[in-house]
This record gives sequence, structure tokens and C-alpha cells, in this order.
Amino acid sequence: MSQPTIAPARGRLGILTPGMGAVATTLYAGVLATRAGQATPIGSLTQMGHIRLGKRTENRNPLIREFVPLADLDDVVFGGWDPYSDDAYAAAMRAGVLRPEHIEGVGEEMRAITPMSAIFSHDWVTRLEGTDNVASDGLTKWEQVEKLVEDIETFRKENDCDRLSMVWCGSTEAYHEPVDIHQSLDLFEAALKDNDQRIAPSQVYAYAALITGTPFANGAPNVTLDFPAMIQLAAREGVPISGKDFKTGQTLIKTIVAPGLKARMLGIDGWFSTNILGNRDGEVLDAPENFRAKEVSKLGVLEQILQPDAYPELYGNMYHKVRINYYPPRGDDKEGWDNIDIFGWLGYKMQIKIDFLCKDSILAAPLVLDLALFMDLAARAGRTGIQEWLSFYFKAPQAAPGLYAENDIFIQLKKLKNNLRDMMGEDLITHLGTEYYEEG
Ligand SMILES: NC(=O)c1ccc[n+]([C@@H]2O[C@H](COP(=O)([O-])OP(=O)(O)OC[C@H]3O[C@@H](n4cnc5c(N)ncnc54)[C@H](O)[C@@H]3O)[C@@H](O)[C@H]2O)c1
Repeated sequence: MSQPTIAPARGRLGILTPGMGAVATTLYAGVLATRAGQATPIGSLTQMGHIRLGKRTENRNPLIREFVPLADLDDVVFGGWDPYSDDAYAAAMRAGVLRPEHIEGVGEEMRAITPMSAIFSHDWVTRLEGTDNVASDGLTKWEQVEKLVEDIETFRKENDCDRLSMVWCGSTEAYHEPVDIHQSLDLFEAALKDNDQRIAPSQVYAYAALITGTPFANGAPNVTLDFPAMIQLAAREGVPISGKDFKTGQTLIKTIVAPGLKARMLGIDGWFSTNILGNRDGEVLDAPENFRAKEVSKLGVLEQILQPDAYPELYGNMYHKVRINYYPPRGDDKEGWDNIDIFGWLGYKMQIKIDFLCKDSILAAPLVLDLALFMDLAARAGRTGIQEWLSFYFKAPQAAPGLYAENDIFIQLKKLKNNLRDMMGEDLITHLGTEYYEEG
């Protein structure tokens, strides 16, 4: 076994979230409540997951957080930006995800988390009205970077942080394909200086994060990290990046069910998915240009898992449709329906119906925590650039250019755990199993 060379998680870790809406405030409240002994961090692999090491006969199965040197929750401090000036307490109350008593229990600490003024543009998120905490008006893109760098450094100093980790929890931006200015770091930096309006606010945050050595994970379907300029920047600065779009709700279910159907060689004629949700995210996604970003990240999943090219008789004619409908009465309580038309032996048809009454932010918050902690671990382990081993957390995982990313959640989990074993110099687990049956 090789010796691991991971810097210890000494001192404080600042977790920074551009966006202090439903997901971010549910994260903050949950971590603070856990720390106060009032809650259990359910849904978080870093806090609750175990990892098997060595042979099954060795019975070694430590908690992940005791196996790899992760930041302790007691050493975490939160900060964020938002175009609305509500503190985390008010924003959590408004988001309506958590019951007031859950927020009250950590009320003082939540009130102390006040948003830094945002780099924000209505051109990219049209549906947000009445924003009162925007710093970017009148600043060029380059000045916006400078303002964020100053925020980051001030936060680091005032909170006595040894390390920072940033996770985008802001709204979904309008969908625009990368253009010429995104094709190289030189062009992108020149475009920042030219105040080119084709640079999205999320790209300004990512740029500021990376040049300050802060790992950046993208929780939205935005085009933020997935173009050559940002990949080159991560390499130049030696910082980890990962994305994109938290895998919760319907896509989580899809990537659990589809691998099972494929494993049994059952065919699929069609997969119709529709959702109703009434939170602010749903309102933003009601705008067609913002929904387009989501649609792109949701549609690719089945195609990759099912491999219609390799299995044309089973998946070659599959019709896949995804709808999201804004329906205010439900708030954060999303309902997602899936109708799956499948066929089996001799082509006989069957149907599967799934009705998932889920709570979006309850599913997303633990992913933000895990990503912040694992990205910090990656940085201390000297890993830079795209962290494909964190594809487990994303609807549209980023992989090396030209390489398809895995969407099957079971393969993603194996990949994640094998990466942890590898970091710590433990044997990888292949599940071969023949060693238990060898003579002598
Ligand atoms: N909840 C889930 O299950 C889930 C799953 C996948 C992805 N996401 C994505 O996570 C993001 C957050 O979701 P949410 O439910 O918390 O949404 P939300 O609308 O409650 O919160 C988003 C916050 O971001 C702020 N914001 C918008 N532009 C910003 C900017 N430029 N800088 C800083 N803040 C900005 C908004 O004012 C808002 O408070 C969305 O992009 C959503 O699509 C959520």
C-alpha cells in the first residue's frame, strides 16, 4: 500500500454559496442543527456512509468520515451571496422548506449569515423581481471579478478560515451554448476585460473562486465550468472543479431504476416524466430559456445509461419526454410522475408508474454538504481539474472533454468509493470474489 499524501483538515473550512435560497438555507440550518445535537444528517454520505475496506472476511467497514480526513462539521462556517438582502433566517422562513421550529432552534446563527451583495443580471434570470442586494450594476465584468475576490478574501480573514469551498446554489441561468470567448483562457480573460455580456454571472463567480484557489462545484444546470477556458483555468490554478446540476428528485429515481431495467435486458418504448413544483426555482424554470438549461441536463441521462446504439432492439426507439410545471400551491413539495412503457419476453408490453412526492431541498441540501467537503478533500489530496469521481452527485456529470460520464448511480458510487480507497492507499474493490473460493 502506498502512503497517502493528503494534507490534514486543520483549522476552519468556509463553505461559500452563491445563492442563499431554499437549498442553501436548508443546508445551513441542517448542519447547524446537527452540530447542536438537534438533528441527524440523513442523506449525507460523508456523515453517515460507511466504506468497506479489504476482503469481506476482514470486517473492516469504517465510517467514511473516519476513513478520509474530512473537515469536521464543528469547523465549518457558512457564507453566501444573494441579490435579495434577507439573512439566512428570513430566507429559510420564506423558502418554507423547514418548519419554523427547525429554523428557530438555530435562529441566532442563521440570522448571523447575511448575504454579500450579488453579481447578478436580469438578462440571465428574468423572473426575479425586487432584488435589493445587487453589486454588479455599473461594474464591468472584470470589476465584478475584483469585487468577488475582495469578498472572498474578506470572508476568509474575518472568519479565520484555513480553506474555502464554493458550491453554486443560485438560480438556473438562461441557457446559452459556449461561444468563441469560452474556447480558451486567453480569450475568456480578454472578454472579461472587454466587459463582454456573453459571460454569465455564474462564470464570474467561478473565475473569482478559482483564482483565489477555491474549489468550485456547480449545483445548477448552468454553463459555468464546462468549457475549455474554465478547464484551463482550473489547471493553471491547480484547483478542483465539478458539476453539474444536483441529482435529486426525478433524475435520482431515473438513474436508480434505469440501470435495473437494463440489467435484466428489458426494453423501453417510452419514458414520460412530468413534475409540479411551486418554489422559486420552479418559478425561474417556468421561463422557457431557463427550462431549456434544465431540459438539456435531464435528457442525456437515460441515453447514456441505456446505450441505444449497443441495444437498438431494446432502446433504439425510446421516446423520452421531461416536463416541469410551475404550480405555486405546492411550494417546495414537488410531485414527480414517471410513466415507463416497457416490454419483455417476445415483446409483451408492461408499464411502471412512479409517483414521487418529494421535497426538493431536503434531497439537495446533503449533496451540497458532501460536495463542499469532498471538494476540500480533493484539494488537500492534490487533485485538480474535473473531479469525475463526484459524478454521483450530478444530473449531468462533467468528464474530460470527449469522454462520456457515467450516470448509473451504482457505478458512480463504486467510482466514488474506489477513489477514496485510492487516496488512502487501500486496495480497490473489484467484486471479483474468486479469492474466497481458492484452495489453500
Ligand atoms: N432543489 C433541488 O433539488 C435542486 C436540484 C438540482 C439543481 N438545483 C438547482 O439549485 C439551485 C438552487 O435551488 P433553490 O431551490 O435553492 O432555488 P431558490 O430560487 O430558492 O434559490 C436560488 C437563490 O439564488 C439567488 N440568485 C440568483 N442569481 C444569483 C446570483 N447571480 N448570485 C447570487 N445569488 C443568486 C436567488 O435570489 C435565490 O435566492 C437552482 O439553480 C436549482 O435549479 C436544485
